Amino acid sequence: MRLIFATNNHHKLKEIKALLSNRYEVKGLSEVNIHEDIPEPHDTLKDNAIEKAMYIYKKYGFDCFADDTGLEIEALDGRPGVYSARYAGENCSFQDNVNKVLSEMDGEANRKAKFRTVIALVENGIVYTFSGEVEGEIIPSERGTDGFGYDPIFLPLGFNQTFAEMPLSIKNTISHRARALNKFIDFLNNRK
Ligand code: IMP
Repeated sequence: MRLIFATNNHHKLKEIKALLSNRYEVKGLSEVNIHEDIPEPHDTLKDNAIEKAMYIYKKYGFDCFADDTGLEIEALDGRPGVYSARYAGENCSFQDNVNKVLSEMDGEANRKAKFRTVIALVENGIVYTFSGEVEGEIIPSERGTDGFGYDPIFLPLGFNQTFAEMPLSIKNTISHRARALNKFIDFLNNRK
């Protein structure tokens, strides 16, 4: 079965392809010749995930799924949350975002954080959503060079490697995105 993943983020595409490769042929937007930024105008992950999948469904007419992810830091009242991609401003880099979080967390004793993902599937115009999260902490300085985004400063609970230090095969067993995706896969497998 072929699934279109409504993303231009090649890191996410790599993760999802690794998770689904046994059963599904996953294509990112550029692989089906769509080269445009999809709007993320809402203030919840769920609404943005639905918006991205619906945008592609309405404009191009095929079923697809999309995800929206946020890093929620307890001491920052849940920020950056839904604004994780552009926390340090429009057109900022992953590094700019990491630097902003590290400076806001400087001297903060409560380091608790979690990543949360919502996946939205649009199939024949009907929307289904699946969510996943992983708890952990924000460490005081970056560790590791793999992964993307906030991975170098996120230490998942029960592990001593950050998401940027551990192999993708381990991140993909515990991550927010993997957990949401497993619910999505169960849904695909269990329906009639
Ligand atoms: P998006 O809006 O779902 O594309 O994700 C928002 C931002 O969250 C991204 O730009 C990344 O900075 C960050 N992000 C999403 N997923 C991950 C992840 O698995 N690890 C680290 N950062 C992530």
